[in-house]
Amino acid sequence: MERPNTIEAERLVREFKKGPRAVDGIDLRVEPGEIYGFLGPNGAGKSTTVLMLTTLLPPTAGTARVAGYDVVREGPDVRATIGAALQEAALDGLLTGREHLRLQATLQGLPRAERPARADELLERVGLMEAADRKVRGYSGGMKRRLDLALALVHRPRVLFLDEPTTGLDPQSRAALWTEVGRLAREEGVTVFLTTQYLEEADVLADRVGIIDHGRIVAEGTPAELKAQVGRPTVEAMPADERIADVLARFGEPVPSAKGVAVRLAGDADLTAIVRALDAKGLLVDNLQLHQPTLDDVFLAKTGRSLEGAGDEEEAASRGLAMQPAA
Ligand SMILES: Nc1ncnc2c1ncn2[C@@H]1O[C@H](COP(=O)(O)OP(=O)(O)O)[C@@H](O)[C@H]1O
Ligand SMILES: [Mg+2]
Repeated sequence: MERPNTIEAERLVREFKKGPRAVDGIDLRVEPGEIYGFLGPNGAGKSTTVLMLTTLLPPTAGTARVAGYDVVREGPDVRATIGAALQEAALDGLLTGREHLRLQATLQGLPRAERPARADELLERVGLMEAADRKVRGYSGGMKRRLDLALALVHRPRVLFLDEPTTGLDPQSRAALWTEVGRLAREEGVTVFLTTQYLEEADVLADRVGIIDHGRIVAEGTPAELKAQVGRPTVEAMPADERIADVLARFGEPVPSAKGVAVRLAGDADLTAIVRALDAKGLLVDNLQLHQPTLDDVFLAKTGRSLEGAGDEEEAASRGLAMQPAA
């Protein structure tokens, strides 16, 4: 009987000799066919967790099982069950995309007769058919990540680990990868454990999100549950004017705002009421915005820091997507 393709971790810990406690007691459970988004800033412990779950790094303490197999005692069974596209992709610039897939099919023990068709099927699926016979050193970052994904899928794994699969990708490549990952989970029942620094990625793609910071899960739930926890939307007005702040304060609790003044709405206050109140005082605003809670608000509420601020140049790329309303 086939085992359910779950991922479980209990009190999982990884300490590095001279480093920090990179993973500091993580408990999690991912259900079959679920997409679990592991969201956190650089250095939070995402990759270390993935390395333990994929048997590449032994835990210092705690246990983890993939499809019921213990990652320490049943490593070979775990490895036969999973596919992984890790941050340190091991692609050979001198091989073509198709050659990589053939090689992987051989390493994974696919029958010789099935290898060419499997390679074609996967190249097609990740949109690399046209580039299939070009050397990988000429591929863009996005093409390499897509090849990584194809390589991870060669042996039809039932559990897939993706470590920051879209970091540095342009919005189109990112959207294409989301579509493919979504399809794998919905249509093939593959369980997906995906790490990301992108709020939108976790929001749009993940069924459930675990927010990790300093090696600990600080919040977990569906994106909607997490956002509901931080509560009411905020209203932000510009410019930062004391009289505007006074009017807004009638509608809710003041919250920090980078460019103006803002309040978290209390009760059923709405924008029209605020506009009328500002107008009654003869106050002009340059900009008035209603912000629904985002996963960044959740991160801020749990850690006191903003995840968006924690990024670097990748932040700019993620902001491009932030313009789209999250599903
Ligand atoms: N091999 C290692 N030796 C020492 N410290 C490490 C090692 N790998 C990661 N770390 C540290 O562990 C913490 C978590 O790293 P990592 O899991 O790579 O975070 P993330 O993937 O979330 O960016 C960081 O502080 C990092 O510097
Ligand atoms: Mg990492």
